[in-house]
Amino acid sequence: MNTQSTATVVEFRTVERLVQGIATSDGAGVRLTRVLTQPLQRRLDPFLMLDAFRNENPDDYIGGFPDHPHRGFETVTYMIAGRMRHHDSVGNSGLLGPGGAQWMTTGSGLIHSELPEQEEGLMEGFQLWLNLPAKNKMVAPSYRDIPPAAIPEFTTEDGVRVRVIAGASHGTAGAVQRPDTEPLYLDVHLPAGRRFVQPIAAGHNAFTYTYRGSVNIAGTTVGDRHMAILANNRAGEVYIEASEDARVLIIAGQPLKEPIAQYGPFVMNSTEQIYQAMRDYEAGKFEAAVVQSL
Ligand code: CO
Repeated sequence: MNTQSTATVVEFRTVERLVQGIATSDGAGVRLTRVLTQPLQRRLDPFLMLDAFRNENPDDYIGGFPDHPHRGFETVTYMIAGRMRHHDSVGNSGLLGPGGAQWMTTGSGLIHSELPEQEEGLMEGFQLWLNLPAKNKMVAPSYRDIPPAAIPEFTTEDGVRVRVIAGASHGTAGAVQRPDTEPLYLDVHLPAGRRFVQPIAAGHNAFTYTYRGSVNIAGTTVGDRHMAILANNRAGEVYIEASEDARVLIIAGQPLKEPIAQYGPFVMNSTEQIYQAMRDYEAGKFEAAVVQSL
Protein backbone atom coordinates (compact mmCIF):
# COMPACT_ATOMS: atom_id res chain seq x y z
CA MET A 1 0.00 0.00 0.00
CA ASN A 2 1.27 3.40 -0.93
CA THR A 3 1.29 5.56 2.19
CA GLN A 4 3.06 8.46 0.58
CA SER A 5 1.23 11.76 0.65
CA THR A 6 -0.22 12.76 -2.65
CA ALA A 7 -0.17 16.44 -1.72
CA THR A 8 1.82 18.68 -4.02
CA VAL A 9 5.41 18.83 -2.87
CA VAL A 10 6.28 22.47 -2.30
CA GLU A 11 9.84 23.31 -3.15
CA PHE A 12 11.44 26.47 -1.91
CA ARG A 13 14.05 28.72 -3.43
CA THR A 14 17.39 27.22 -2.52
CA VAL A 15 20.60 29.08 -1.73
CA GLU A 16 22.69 29.37 -4.88
CA ARG A 17 25.60 31.13 -3.26
CA LEU A 18 26.71 32.62 0.06
CA VAL A 19 28.50 35.96 -0.02
CA GLN A 20 30.34 37.60 2.85
CA GLY A 21 31.06 40.90 1.18
CA ILE A 22 34.21 42.99 1.08
CA ALA A 23 35.42 45.21 3.92
CA THR A 24 36.05 48.68 2.51
CA SER A 25 35.61 52.33 3.33
CA ASP A 26 33.69 55.05 1.53
CA GLY A 27 32.81 58.70 1.99
CA ALA A 28 35.18 60.31 4.52
CA GLY A 29 36.54 57.05 5.94
CA VAL A 30 33.32 55.25 6.90
CA ARG A 31 34.11 51.58 7.39
CA LEU A 32 31.55 49.32 5.79
CA THR A 33 31.01 45.97 4.15
CA ARG A 34 30.12 46.03 0.46
CA VAL A 35 27.87 42.99 0.28
CA LEU A 36 26.52 43.40 -3.23
CA THR A 37 29.50 44.31 -5.40
CA GLN A 38 29.76 45.27 -9.06
CA PRO A 39 30.40 41.71 -10.35
CA LEU A 40 26.99 40.69 -8.91
CA GLN A 41 25.00 43.46 -10.60
CA ARG A 42 24.01 41.36 -13.57
CA ARG A 43 22.99 38.40 -11.42
CA LEU A 44 21.01 40.54 -8.99
CA ASP A 45 19.53 43.01 -11.52
CA PRO A 46 17.80 45.45 -10.68
CA PHE A 47 19.99 45.86 -7.57
CA LEU A 48 23.36 47.54 -7.99
CA MET A 49 24.86 47.65 -4.54
CA LEU A 50 24.24 46.78 -0.90
CA ASP A 51 26.45 48.31 1.78
CA ALA A 52 26.15 47.21 5.40
CA PHE A 53 27.68 49.28 8.17
CA ARG A 54 27.85 48.46 11.87
CA ASN A 55 30.42 50.52 13.73
CA GLU A 56 30.79 51.02 17.49
CA ASN A 57 33.87 53.20 17.19
CA PRO A 58 33.05 56.80 16.12
CA ASP A 59 36.38 56.99 14.26
CA ASP A 60 34.88 54.46 11.86
CA TYR A 61 31.83 56.56 10.96
CA ILE A 62 32.16 60.16 12.16
CA GLY A 63 33.39 61.48 8.79
CA GLY A 64 30.16 60.40 7.12
CA PHE A 65 29.56 60.94 3.43
CA PRO A 66 30.22 64.59 2.52
CA ASP A 67 28.88 66.17 -0.69
CA HIS A 68 28.91 63.77 -3.65
CA PRO A 69 26.83 63.41 -6.83
CA HIS A 70 24.56 60.65 -8.11
CA ARG A 71 22.70 60.03 -11.37
CA GLY A 72 20.58 57.25 -12.82
CA PHE A 73 19.25 55.11 -9.95
CA GLU A 74 17.59 55.06 -6.51
CA THR A 75 19.19 54.81 -3.09
CA VAL A 76 17.39 53.20 -0.16
CA THR A 77 18.95 53.81 3.24
CA TYR A 78 17.62 51.86 6.22
CA MET A 79 18.86 52.62 9.72
CA ILE A 80 19.03 50.17 12.62
CA ALA A 81 20.96 52.31 15.09
CA GLY A 82 22.28 55.86 15.07
CA ARG A 83 21.29 59.01 13.22
CA MET A 84 22.24 60.45 9.85
CA ARG A 85 21.49 63.94 8.60
CA HIS A 86 20.75 64.29 4.90
CA HIS A 87 21.09 67.40 2.73
CA ASP A 88 20.81 67.61 -1.03
CA SER A 89 21.06 70.10 -3.89
CA VAL A 90 17.33 69.84 -4.55
CA GLY A 91 16.77 71.52 -1.19
CA ASN A 92 15.68 68.47 0.79
CA SER A 93 16.99 67.70 4.21
CA GLY A 94 16.06 65.13 6.80
CA LEU A 95 17.18 63.23 9.85
CA LEU A 96 17.26 59.48 9.53
CA GLY A 97 16.97 57.59 12.82
CA PRO A 98 16.69 54.00 14.08
CA GLY A 99 14.05 52.00 12.22
CA GLY A 100 13.56 54.70 9.59
CA ALA A 101 14.28 54.69 5.89
CA GLN A 102 15.10 57.18 3.20
CA TRP A 103 14.16 56.55 -0.41
CA MET A 104 15.87 58.82 -2.91
CA THR A 105 15.41 58.82 -6.66
CA THR A 106 18.59 60.42 -7.93
CA GLY A 107 17.28 60.58 -11.51
CA SER A 108 18.99 63.23 -13.64
CA GLY A 109 21.33 64.10 -10.81
CA LEU A 110 21.85 65.71 -7.45
CA ILE A 111 24.56 66.33 -4.92
CA HIS A 112 23.97 65.20 -1.38
CA SER A 113 25.64 64.57 1.95
CA GLU A 114 24.89 62.03 4.65
CA LEU A 115 26.51 62.92 7.95
CA PRO A 116 26.27 61.22 11.35
CA GLU A 117 24.41 63.24 13.95
CA GLN A 118 26.00 61.55 16.93
CA GLU A 119 29.48 61.43 18.36
CA GLU A 120 29.36 58.12 20.17
CA GLY A 121 27.53 54.81 20.20
CA LEU A 122 26.55 52.30 17.56
CA MET A 123 25.92 53.35 13.96
CA GLU A 124 24.26 50.57 12.01
CA GLY A 125 22.31 50.38 8.79
CA PHE A 126 22.21 49.55 5.11
CA GLN A 127 22.26 51.34 1.81
CA LEU A 128 20.78 49.58 -1.19
CA TRP A 129 21.07 50.89 -4.75
CA LEU A 130 18.14 50.10 -7.00
CA ASN A 131 18.46 50.72 -10.71
CA LEU A 132 16.05 52.89 -12.70
CA PRO A 133 14.80 51.73 -16.09
CA ALA A 134 16.45 53.51 -19.03
CA LYS A 135 13.28 55.53 -19.67
CA ASN A 136 13.41 56.99 -16.12
CA LYS A 137 17.11 57.62 -15.58
CA MET A 138 16.77 61.35 -16.29
CA VAL A 139 13.59 62.03 -14.29
CA ALA A 140 13.66 64.92 -11.82
CA PRO A 141 15.31 63.85 -8.56
CA SER A 142 13.00 63.18 -5.63
CA TYR A 143 13.36 62.17 -2.04
CA ARG A 144 11.25 60.72 0.73
CA ASP A 145 11.91 60.31 4.43
CA ILE A 146 10.06 57.36 5.90
CA PRO A 147 9.93 57.59 9.70
CA PRO A 148 9.77 54.31 11.65
CA ALA A 149 6.02 54.58 12.28
CA ALA A 150 5.40 54.92 8.53
CA ILE A 151 6.89 51.52 7.78
CA PRO A 152 3.99 49.03 7.92
CA GLU A 153 4.65 45.92 9.99
CA PHE A 154 2.90 42.82 11.23
CA THR A 155 3.62 39.84 13.47
CA THR A 156 2.86 36.31 12.29
CA GLU A 157 1.17 33.64 14.45
CA ASP A 158 4.68 32.27 14.93
CA GLY A 159 5.82 35.51 16.55
CA VAL A 160 7.86 36.66 13.57
CA ARG A 161 7.90 40.44 13.20
CA VAL A 162 7.97 41.70 9.62
CA ARG A 163 8.63 45.30 8.59
CA VAL A 164 7.57 45.99 5.00
CA ILE A 165 9.74 48.73 3.53
CA ALA A 166 8.79 48.05 -0.09
CA GLY A 167 6.49 45.70 -1.98
CA ALA A 168 4.04 43.59 0.01
CA SER A 169 4.09 40.66 2.40
CA HIS A 170 1.16 38.50 3.54
CA GLY A 171 -1.36 41.16 2.58
CA THR A 172 0.51 44.10 4.08
CA ALA A 173 1.56 46.73 1.56
CA GLY A 174 4.94 48.34 2.15
CA ALA A 175 5.84 52.00 2.52
CA VAL A 176 7.07 52.18 -1.08
CA GLN A 177 5.81 50.67 -4.34
CA ARG A 178 7.69 50.93 -7.60
CA PRO A 179 6.66 50.00 -11.12
CA ASP A 180 9.20 48.36 -13.45
CA THR A 181 11.54 46.98 -10.76
CA GLU A 182 8.75 45.98 -8.32
CA PRO A 183 11.12 45.85 -5.34
CA LEU A 184 10.37 43.78 -2.25
CA TYR A 185 12.30 44.89 0.84
CA LEU A 186 11.51 43.23 4.18
CA ASP A 187 13.20 43.33 7.58
CA VAL A 188 12.25 40.08 9.31
CA HIS A 189 12.84 39.43 13.03
CA LEU A 190 12.60 35.73 13.92
CA PRO A 191 12.69 34.28 17.44
CA ALA A 192 14.82 31.11 17.74
CA GLY A 193 13.20 28.07 16.15
CA ARG A 194 10.50 30.03 14.32
CA ARG A 195 9.85 30.08 10.59
CA PHE A 196 8.83 32.54 7.94
CA VAL A 197 7.77 31.93 4.36
CA GLN A 198 7.71 34.70 1.77
CA PRO A 199 6.39 34.30 -1.77
CA ILE A 200 8.72 35.73 -4.42
CA ALA A 201 7.40 36.54 -7.89
CA ALA A 202 8.56 34.19 -10.63
CA GLY A 203 11.62 35.49 -12.47
CA HIS A 204 12.48 38.06 -9.82
CA ASN A 205 16.03 38.02 -8.54
CA ALA A 206 16.18 37.63 -4.76
CA PHE A 207 18.65 37.56 -1.91
CA THR A 208 18.72 37.72 1.87
CA TYR A 209 21.14 39.35 4.29
CA THR A 210 21.36 38.05 7.85
CA TYR A 211 22.39 40.82 10.24
CA ARG A 212 21.72 39.10 13.57
CA GLY A 213 21.99 35.46 14.52
CA SER A 214 21.83 32.59 12.11
CA VAL A 215 19.11 31.09 9.93
CA ASN A 216 18.48 28.07 7.75
CA ILE A 217 17.18 28.72 4.25
CA ALA A 218 15.84 25.63 2.48
CA GLY A 219 18.56 23.48 4.04
CA THR A 220 21.50 25.91 3.94
CA THR A 221 22.84 27.60 7.06
CA VAL A 222 23.22 31.34 6.56
CA GLY A 223 25.21 32.95 9.36
CA ASP A 224 25.47 36.47 10.69
CA ARG A 225 26.54 39.08 8.10
CA HIS A 226 26.10 36.78 5.14
CA MET A 227 24.14 37.35 1.97
CA ALA A 228 22.42 34.37 0.41
CA ILE A 229 21.68 34.64 -3.29
CA LEU A 230 18.52 32.65 -3.91
CA ALA A 231 18.30 30.38 -6.92
CA ASN A 232 15.74 31.32 -9.55
CA ASN A 233 14.29 27.83 -9.49
CA ARG A 234 10.66 27.19 -10.23
CA ALA A 235 9.59 27.43 -6.60
CA GLY A 236 8.30 30.84 -5.71
CA GLU A 237 8.87 31.00 -1.97
CA VAL A 238 11.74 31.58 0.38
CA TYR A 239 11.59 29.52 3.58
CA ILE A 240 13.58 30.82 6.55
CA GLU A 241 13.98 29.08 9.89
CA ALA A 242 15.84 30.77 12.73
CA SER A 243 18.57 28.67 14.35
CA GLU A 244 18.75 31.35 17.05
CA ASP A 245 17.13 34.78 17.42
CA ALA A 246 17.78 36.31 14.04
CA ARG A 247 17.15 39.31 11.82
CA VAL A 248 17.17 39.01 8.07
CA LEU A 249 16.59 41.36 5.16
CA ILE A 250 14.71 39.82 2.24
CA ILE A 251 15.19 41.74 -0.99
CA ALA A 252 13.82 40.88 -4.43
CA GLY A 253 12.97 42.65 -7.67
CA GLN A 254 12.09 42.37 -11.32
CA PRO A 255 15.23 42.43 -13.49
CA LEU A 256 15.41 45.28 -16.01
CA LYS A 257 17.64 43.34 -18.45
CA GLU A 258 19.15 46.57 -19.77
CA PRO A 259 22.86 47.41 -20.18
CA ILE A 260 24.53 48.64 -16.98
CA ALA A 261 27.31 51.23 -17.22
CA GLN A 262 28.66 52.38 -13.86
CA TYR A 263 31.35 54.86 -13.01
CA GLY A 264 31.37 55.47 -9.25
CA PRO A 265 28.19 57.34 -8.33
CA PHE A 266 26.76 57.37 -11.88
CA VAL A 267 24.86 54.37 -13.23
CA MET A 268 23.64 54.66 -16.81
CA ASN A 269 23.16 52.38 -19.82
CA SER A 270 26.17 53.37 -21.97
CA THR A 271 29.68 54.76 -21.69
CA GLU A 272 28.61 57.85 -23.63
CA GLN A 273 25.93 58.55 -21.01
CA ILE A 274 28.58 58.21 -18.29
CA TYR A 275 30.80 60.77 -20.05
CA GLN A 276 27.77 63.03 -20.35
CA ALA A 277 27.12 62.69 -16.61
CA MET A 278 30.74 63.64 -15.87
CA ARG A 279 30.56 66.65 -18.22
CA ASP A 280 27.27 67.78 -16.66
CA TYR A 281 28.73 67.43 -13.18
CA GLU A 282 31.88 69.34 -14.14
CA ALA A 283 29.67 72.05 -15.66
CA GLY A 284 27.85 72.44 -12.36
CA LYS A 285 24.52 71.22 -13.70
CA PHE A 286 23.92 69.04 -10.65
CA GLU A 287 24.04 72.14 -8.46
CA ALA A 288 21.37 74.05 -10.39
CA ALA A 289 18.73 73.28 -7.80
CA VAL A 290 20.90 74.75 -5.04
CA VAL A 291 21.30 77.98 -6.98
CA GLN A 292 17.56 78.18 -7.49
CA SER A 293 16.82 77.73 -3.81
CA LEU A 294 19.20 80.46 -2.64
CO1 CO B 1 25.11 59.08 -1.79
